Amino acid sequence: MIEASGPDRSRSFVIAIDGPAGTGKSTVARRVAQALDAGYLDTGAMYRIVTLAVLRSSVEPTDEAAVAGLLPGLVFDSPTNAGRQRHSLDGVDVGTEIRGPAVTLAVTPVSANPAVRGWLLDRQRRLARSGRMVVEGRDIGTVVVPDADLKIYRTADADERARRRQRQSAALVGGSGPDLAAVATDLQRRDSKDASRTHAPLQAAADAIVVDSSSLAIEETVAHVLGLAAERGITP
Ligand code: DC
Repeated sequence: MIEASGPDRSRSFVIAIDGPAGTGKSTVARRVAQALDAGYLDTGAMYRIVTLAVLRSSVEPTDEAAVAGLLPGLVFDSPTNAGRQRHSLDGVDVGTEIRGPAVTLAVTPVSANPAVRGWLLDRQRRLARSGRMVVEGRDIGTVVVPDADLKIYRTADADERARRRQRQSAALVGGSGPDLAAVATDLQRRDSKDASRTHAPLQAAADAIVVDSSSLAIEETVAHVLGLAAERGITP
């Protein structure tokens, strides 16, 4: 007879949450991590920190070789707590700056740079495999952790994504936020570049479960993901 036992908290797992910008996937990933008492890794923040370091240097974000040359000197934290995260570069908090317009514009060429991707990949894999983890990005289920226990790909229609990003920017900098049409154009620009780049383009893994926000809101998506996790033996 098999004895009843409590949840196996020693079991490591990876839940991958991918999708374009403005789908609410960060909120979903963070809440799923909190509900499971797991860690949370925001890989987009890593690309943003590298981009900020590039902007602070005299290097052009599109100069692939020069950007690659900066990588060995970078010192930054990659928090994995599921609460409010502190992102720092050279020991200084850069949480607000990495979400600002300058970084958001320059992150596209920096994240398309194969040297940057390769360099971050090692760190991402190490952190992703460090225990019970929810990992969020664009290529987690396809490249970073192709054998993740559960892969979610979150989508949303373009207007809704633009509205969500505008609200986030307004919350960050105050006021009514940037012009909605400008946000929509920027999202479109980033997504089409992310999806068409040669290295690790934005795409759903063949075995990802696609969750459209027009059919499932954030709370419902969190519950749905937790249900899918439970089916795989992943419980709080
Ligand atoms: O999720 P985010 O908007 O903070 O991501 C910032 C940028 O980084 C985004 O334009 C795409 C890129 N990115 C990526 O190429 N691969 C990831 N795994 C995560 C983000």
